[in-house]
Amino acid sequence: MAKLDILEFPDPRLRKIGEKVEKIDGEIKKLIEDMAETMYAADGCGLAATQVDVQKRIFIMDFSQDQNELEVFINPELTPLCEEPSEFPEGCLSVPGFFENLHRPNRVLVKALGRDGNPFEKEYEGLLAVCVQHENDHLDGKLFVDQLTKLKRDRIRKKLEKEHRLTNK
Ligand code: NI
Repeated sequence: MAKLDILEFPDPRLRKIGEKVEKIDGEIKKLIEDMAETMYAADGCGLAATQVDVQKRIFIMDFSQDQNELEVFINPELTPLCEEPSEFPEGCLSVPGFFENLHRPNRVLVKALGRDGNPFEKEYEGLLAVCVQHENDHLDGKLFVDQLTKLKRDRIRKKLEKEHRLTNK
């Protein structure tokens, strides 16, 4: 396994769109293992392939205390199940250090392939529903900061650009 570099806002590569996975071969399985290692090392609970500069429709999630309940979503399709908005402080490994409340549907149905290639359907609610929507947005090149005011987004961009200059990222 290998730890991958996580792209950080405002890196333009985060705007690339993930392509559908046609075949779950060894390369995809290795990518998923590397993504899991990367997410756990960064203490995150969700990571999309586009965040590690791989344009494939794959994201992973794990909200367990012991980092041992990895969920893998390949070619996910999301359907909101209610209008009722949910509000959770949303963060992102590509926007480190910033958390904002966004409005998103509180329940969603996800259809995807698991890491074994078998299709599954599962409902998510609350924080987990927010997470799957957040990760799925990454596959379309969208970031949570897009939903903030321009003022807030510019402030975050400037702070991160300054940090990137200091760390030569
Ligand atoms: Ni994110």
